[in-house]
Amino acid sequence: MNLSLIAPHAGALPIIAATLTAEQYEQTIADIQRFRGRIYVQDEAIPASALDGSGRHYNKLDYSSYHIVARTHEGAITGVMRVPLYVSGAAVWFMQLYHVLERMEPGPKALYSSAIQQFIDQSATTYPFIVEPGGWAVDRQISEKLTGTTLVAATWAFCQLIGGAVAIATATVKHNSAALLKMMGGINCLEGTSNARFYDPFHRCELEIVYFRSDRVNPRFAAMVEEIKGQWQKREAMAA
Ligand SMILES: CC(C)(COP(=O)(O)OP(=O)(O)OC[C@H]1O[C@@H](n2cnc3c(N)ncnc32)[C@H](O)[C@@H]1OP(=O)(O)O)[C@@H](O)C(=O)NCCC(=O)NCCS
Repeated sequence: MNLSLIAPHAGALPIIAATLTAEQYEQTIADIQRFRGRIYVQDEAIPASALDGSGRHYNKLDYSSYHIVARTHEGAITGVMRVPLYVSGAAVWFMQLYHVLERMEPGPKALYSSAIQQFIDQSATTYPFIVEPGGWAVDRQISEKLTGTTLVAATWAFCQLIGGAVAIATATVKHNSAALLKMMGGINCLEGTSNARFYDPFHRCELEIVYFRSDRVNPRFAAMVEEIKGQWQKREAMAA
């Protein structure tokens, strides 16, 4: 599986240098948006009307985020993950997941907001960054087995490469997405309570908020993370 890390061209923390030309970058973002849009519409996670005229699931957040893209050897995209990056201590209302919290009743909204902010504040002394992985999509018709898992392992690799990060993901319960993240080392701080998952009317499904720390991965996946990190470090050294 060919895994690439796409750095933003503007507006984000320049931790990893951008390697694509402006034209290649624009094309790659368009390809990611079309891919994600197609998979999400097929999955009925979004209506077809959420795509623009060229089939793109347009979101300006894509331009300020890092992306991890899995491709076949021929170059066809098989899976994507978007990784917005923030400095530690960011306010919860500044993050993408706040859109989800805004759709909640005041009680749950206050509960989740303060739990997330507490996690962010506690992590700030140890981890320099926060990431918010999302836009996770795989074409299971053409992907190699474990492409979704590999994209998550690559997110850990990215977090380690930038010097340490905590991650916060709003994951769907369907497709075992949240279960897969927790199996790999993610934590739902409200596990075992009636608030462990909640229904989001926009995505029309149940979601869980799952946290990660870059240095805490299920040992079963540690070798996968190391392998991806090694591949990217080698590529960076060759490009330098
Ligand atoms: C969610 C998604 C990205 C996962 O990608 P994927 O390539 O299918 O994932 P993988 O093959 O690496 O892993 C999934 C497998 O792990 C299994 N798995 C998940 N949690 C597990 C657990 N706790 N223990 C054991 N196995 C588990 C799944 O059952 C699945 O097995 P299967 O292939 O035999 O059905 C993909 O299904 C997708 O794009 N879905 C549509 C969009 C979506 O829901 N995105 C996620 C939004 S949060």
